[in-house]
Amino acid sequence: MSENFYQLFGGAPAFEKLVHTFYQNVKRDPLLAPMYPDDDFEGAERRLRMFLEQYWGGPHTYSDERGHPRLRMRHAPFAIGVAERDAWLACMKPAVDELELTTELHQELWGYLEGAATFMINQ
Ligand code: HEM
Repeated sequence: MSENFYQLFGGAPAFEKLVHTFYQNVKRDPLLAPMYPDDDFEGAERRLRMFLEQYWGGPHTYSDERGHPRLRMRHAPFAIGVAERDAWLACMKPAVDELELTTELHQELWGYLEGAATFMINQ
């Protein structure tokens, strides 16, 4: 991914906001909340933020700390069906909207998240 997208989306503050809003929603979601470590929500927030920043051309902190993403493998311990995928995207939607991106940038980000979430289905 080009460095452009990281910057075009708004750089570090945008990713911070995106992932923070997402996790506020996850905490209130009856299906998702129990899947996340309730003693380490901050850690989970940080891991997702670092991953997304790296994916879109920002700092490589994710791989420096966590190694190769191998996201499907890392999600194997969690039962993810269509309902969980939809709940995850429902938590993400208002967070993406909040960034107030142009239509093109919004579609770029949202299209990626939809595809990635479907890819994570393992049930
Ligand atoms: C489809 C529904 C999804 C569910 C139910 C789900 C659930 C989870 C859970 C429960 C964790 C563990 C939290 C932690 O301690 O880090 C996690 C980690 C993570 N998820 Fe998801 N996830 C989903 C989709 C996605 C998608 C679409 C992405 C990327 C675009 C993603 C990226 C990550 C990352 C980067 C981590 C941390 C991995 C690590 O380094 O340990 N997830 N996810």
